[in-house]
Amino acid sequence: MPFLRFPEHFLFGSSSSAHQVEGNNVHNQWWAFEQEPGRIKNGDKSGLAADHYHRYKEDFADLKAMKHEAHRLSFEWSRFFPESPTQLNPEAVRHYHNVLDTLHNLGIEPFVTTLHFTIPQWFAEMGGFEQEENIRHYLDFVRFLADEYGRKVHFWCTINEPNIYASFAYIIGEYPPAKKNIRTAFRVLSNLLKAHGRAYHIIKSLHPASQVGLVVHLPVFAPLRKGSFIDKLTARLADWVFNGIILEALKTGKIHFPAGFFEKHDFIKDSNDFIGLNYYVRMFASPKHAVATALNALDTDLGAFRRTGSERLTQSGWTVYAKGLYKCLKRLHRKLGLPMYVTENGIATEDDEWRKIFIRKHLRQVHKALEKGMDVRGYFYWSNLDNFEWSFGFEPRFGLVDVDYANDCKRTIRDSAWFYAEIIQQRGFWQDEKAKNESLEQIFPQEIQ
Ligand code: FCB
Repeated sequence: MPFLRFPEHFLFGSSSSAHQVEGNNVHNQWWAFEQEPGRIKNGDKSGLAADHYHRYKEDFADLKAMKHEAHRLSFEWSRFFPESPTQLNPEAVRHYHNVLDTLHNLGIEPFVTTLHFTIPQWFAEMGGFEQEENIRHYLDFVRFLADEYGRKVHFWCTINEPNIYASFAYIIGEYPPAKKNIRTAFRVLSNLLKAHGRAYHIIKSLHPASQVGLVVHLPVFAPLRKGSFIDKLTARLADWVFNGIILEALKTGKIHFPAGFFEKHDFIKDSNDFIGLNYYVRMFASPKHAVATALNALDTDLGAFRRTGSERLTQSGWTVYAKGLYKCLKRLHRKLGLPMYVTENGIATEDDEWRKIFIRKHLRQVHKALEKGMDVRGYFYWSNLDNFEWSFGFEPRFGLVDVDYANDCKRTIRDSAWFYAEIIQQRGFWQDEKAKNESLEQIFPQEIQ
């Protein structure tokens, strides 16, 4: 049984986002949303979150101890420009310099996301990404970031998961502004793609050597009933609407939505030096579910949409399907032919043994992609810390590090973190544990019981 070795330049790390860990991001639209009753599970509010804003040094020291080589984090727009597009908050500027300096001093490569679901409340009040003319405010922010931090940041992720942002905020209604309107969702998606394309060129014009890419979330769509033609067709359709349109836009510059919406923008084509993949889930499609989604009545049983039988569910109601990660990498490779980073992949569970199995299984798939010659350059586990999981609140535990919210956010590094650290340190792992012990037995016979 072989040892699955990852290349020397391959980056192992973890991913996070500002609002989910920092605490007290009081000037963004999520904060306002959380104050409305019934929006977040158990009435949770992000509040102090994991208090990472004050404890980033401790958290980054933990990353180092856990052998991470890179860390993906987001810069919170509403901290820089809390009240208006022009009033800059110098404390935020200093803070993120300190954040970057701390990472660099530890030898951890930062990947900075400029927009991870949160927008300043003033921007939300002017319609956010619903209005095309508002994009310029985001671009001003990006220009500011590239100008201020460009010498310290080599890797930029522009926008996190445009399809999740548009669908959860404008179809499913779980994210602010919780509108349910498919046309608006498409407009927002199209504006996010335009914002990404423009942001790419802004950063590159200021720092040509930097690496800039969009982060896409690709669920795998499968037919609910295996042999059913109509379910297969629905799965294809859902895949096209949710994933395909974005990939096509990145490849050709064409944004082509159902019902005749069509635009072509050359600045979206070739707007990635790499592509970030967030992979979590397989979704099972049937016409009933598709119609329910389209009619935005998906407060039906999401569980049924995510599993076919009695598969074990994670705390976010997902099943584990590691092979899907390989499928998505292969798809991206074929469609875009770009270097790829798995910018997020993780599991919400209190069962830390399950997390270890999850990591192994998914890294196995990444390795398979490497074996097939695909250009995968890194893997970021979501997340280093337990955090505020949007409308799920604090219940899902994704972290390699446990955060005890009731006890001053005390951190405890989980076993799975050490398990992952060992993989990083050895630059790989034995294909199966039994083989590992057997081969160790040959080397150190007395030490293996
Ligand atoms: C992704 C988000 C991230 C986190 C994970 C679990 O869709 O990018 O913020 O919530 O899911």
